[in-house]
Amino acid sequence: MKLIDGNAIAAKIRDEMRAEIEKEGIKPKLTAMLVGNNPASAVYVRNKQKACEEVGIDSEIIKLEESISERDLLEVIRRLNEDKKTNGIIVQLPLPEQISENKVIEAIDPLKDVDGFHPINMGFLLAGEPRFVPSTPQGIKELVLRSGYGFDGKHVVIVGRSNIVGKPLAALLLCKDANATVTVCHSHTKYLNEVTKEADILVAAIGKAGFIGEEMVKDGSIVIDVGINRIEDKTRKSGYRLVGDVDFDAVKDKVEAITPVPGGVGPMTVAMLLVNTVKAYKMQ
Ligand code: GUN
Repeated sequence: MKLIDGNAIAAKIRDEMRAEIEKEGIKPKLTAMLVGNNPASAVYVRNKQKACEEVGIDSEIIKLEESISERDLLEVIRRLNEDKKTNGIIVQLPLPEQISENKVIEAIDPLKDVDGFHPINMGFLLAGEPRFVPSTPQGIKELVLRSGYGFDGKHVVIVGRSNIVGKPLAALLLCKDANATVTVCHSHTKYLNEVTKEADILVAAIGKAGFIGEEMVKDGSIVIDVGINRIEDKTRKSGYRLVGDVDFDAVKDKVEAITPVPGGVGPMTVAMLLVNTVKAYKMQ
């Protein structure tokens, strides 16, 4: 079994980004909006800012109250759309109940939409002409390619149909530079084990700790674990630890390669956001 080291591959991508930014003497800027008090979201946004600092991208976090109205949030986005200094805008999800995520995503200038969630960017991706590709799918693709594997003719089974991971990943791997055969499964899929066992590359993006067991994976397959689940662990100072959607110990001896959690897909997501921010700068 080969452990796919997302930390190392992401560090290499950050090195490449830093070199490119230095060589071209550019100063892109990412502005992130963090709404409310979701502890995981605060960690993710902080990680994104740290990564920006490391490669020479300016960053700003705009913190907004949990109780902010949709109107007020949309007003902040409108201001950032007009702000010449901001090249990339992200609004960390999930958002509080009173706010429509779709309305927020649609309010972001598609040319600054470095998350790639705007319907225009999703449309480009589905049409096979990607502009901004969402970071997690793009990170998964890079992780597999830079580990020496490919997608051409491979059966990729994705478990999870979210707008952030499952759906855009399916579209990305159907593009003609990847040429995968893609199956997307979800909570209503019948005989799920039978489908996942057919996967050359299995992507778990369900959001349930340890959901993928030994009986669900094929011998010699590649397993990509997108899950980041907090489970109670009283031996830790924080009181919790992070585990993926895959039961790592159960499948590790069966697979060709697997990503750990943490240290697999997570750091790649952050690295690809940097790539998109530089791309946004160049397009503007
Ligand atoms: N929440 C979970 N993943 C993401 C992401 O990639 N971008 C944003 N903005 N929010 C998220």
